[in-house]
Amino acid sequence: MISAARRCLTVVLAAGEGVRMRSSRPKVLHAVAGRSMIAHALAAAREAGAVDVAVVVGPNRDDVAEAARKAAPGVEIFVQTERLGTAHAVLAARAAIARGYDDVLVTYADIPLVCGATLEALRAGLAAGADLVALGFAPADPTGYGRLIERDGRLVAIREHKDATAEERAARLCNAGPVAFAGAHALAMLDAVTPNNAQKEYYLTDLVEIAGARGLNAQAIEADEAEVMGVNNRVQLAAAEAAMQARLRERAMLEGATLVAPETVFLSFDTTIGRDVLIEPHVVIGPGVSIADGAVVHAFSHLEGAKVAEGATIGPYARLRPGADIGVKAKVGNFVEIKKATVETGAKVNHLTYIGDARIGAGANIGAGTITCNYDGFGKYKTDIGVNAFIGSNSSLVAPVKIGDGAFVGSGSVVTKDVEADALAVARGRQENREGWAKAFRAAKKKG
Ligand code: UD1
Ligand code: CA
Repeated sequence: MISAARRCLTVVLAAGEGVRMRSSRPKVLHAVAGRSMIAHALAAAREAGAVDVAVVVGPNRDDVAEAARKAAPGVEIFVQTERLGTAHAVLAARAAIARGYDDVLVTYADIPLVCGATLEALRAGLAAGADLVALGFAPADPTGYGRLIERDGRLVAIREHKDATAEERAARLCNAGPVAFAGAHALAMLDAVTPNNAQKEYYLTDLVEIAGARGLNAQAIEADEAEVMGVNNRVQLAAAEAAMQARLRERAMLEGATLVAPETVFLSFDTTIGRDVLIEPHVVIGPGVSIADGAVVHAFSHLEGAKVAEGATIGPYARLRPGADIGVKAKVGNFVEIKKATVETGAKVNHLTYIGDARIGAGANIGAGTITCNYDGFGKYKTDIGVNAFIGSNSSLVAPVKIGDGAFVGSGSVVTKDVEADALAVARGRQENREGWAKAFRAAKKKG
């Protein structure tokens, strides 16, 4: 851990146009594992100990600014009005840098897999005495990347692909993008950058040679290629998603969950899974889900914004929507949808049911085909089912309605009035049997 006394400004570059996404949405608002790329970048910055964060957005990008503020309240937004290069982008945050920091850490909003620990390692290099620490990686295909030119263990330059000689292009390490440099020299170095290069851009990478010319010390550390992969198009977005899923599944398994076929289980950035949880194949878990110890999620279930308590059983083919709160050892079975409802300890909703805006008391049993009619086309209303109540199959509970503790509802009822505790409610046509009717009917038809 880096001493909290070391003040750091993190600058997140998010002013790219993302043309290759071919999207009406800005690139950095596309999601990986249920969270926008900008939010991933801000989370990594926070893990690296960032308190002060500046986000550089393009002109008219209120949507990106808003997403950044939502993900990390307190961020400062700076607008880069013209896209003149990465150093120019960092200088959009001049006012923040000028406040004076020990460390300035620059990262990109379109590398969603970079870990806080890696960004922290860049800062650790500064804490250990370096004036600039760049992040290198050894890509399978280095085309397009800046090359790290090292001499005697020192980083002497980063040469952009378009400006590099054949010899420089053969360098083992390429520039991943994130870089940390000493705040004391930050503005002086950034102001020294000129656009004298193949792309006529202000390159942030020029800081390395500028540092060298001032007798400052630049270094590089190395990251895995998978961690620094950038997203420029939808193919790379899918690749980043796959890498993130692999990371999340591995973490869940190492923390004690069994994923029978991990490659078929999709998790979100914030999924929490306890020990001895069993997740069967083909389960999709959206944002905001926690699954406590010993719970089982059977195949083909879809969960989002839901809480599953210890030992509960979900699915197969169950859908838990936002606000589903499934209690200890409760059961939610096949073709059951639960939305904004609490299913208390040991209650059972086993088959073909919709439960929305409801409470189901502990130990209650909800028969197959039960529907809470929670919506009248205008408002939503609550259904309250008491402890140990029994709802017969194929009942409609027209909300707002209350079924008391221990009450019974006869199968096929349409319940529109509250039912007292321990009562029986039957609300359906009374059965009439006509003796011999069918036989007579058949005989009459045959004659004709
Ligand atoms: C940059 C690096 C290169 C590195 C590569 C890694 C420079 C000069 N080059 O190249 O060494 O190997 O990233 O992917 O830094 N951005 C702005 N405003 C700008 C320009 C860029 O905000 O004016 C942002 C982009 O949105 C992006 C990041 O900075 O998030 C990198 O910009 P990009 O144009 O992709 O840089 P590369 O040419 O790929
Ligand atoms: Ca790029």
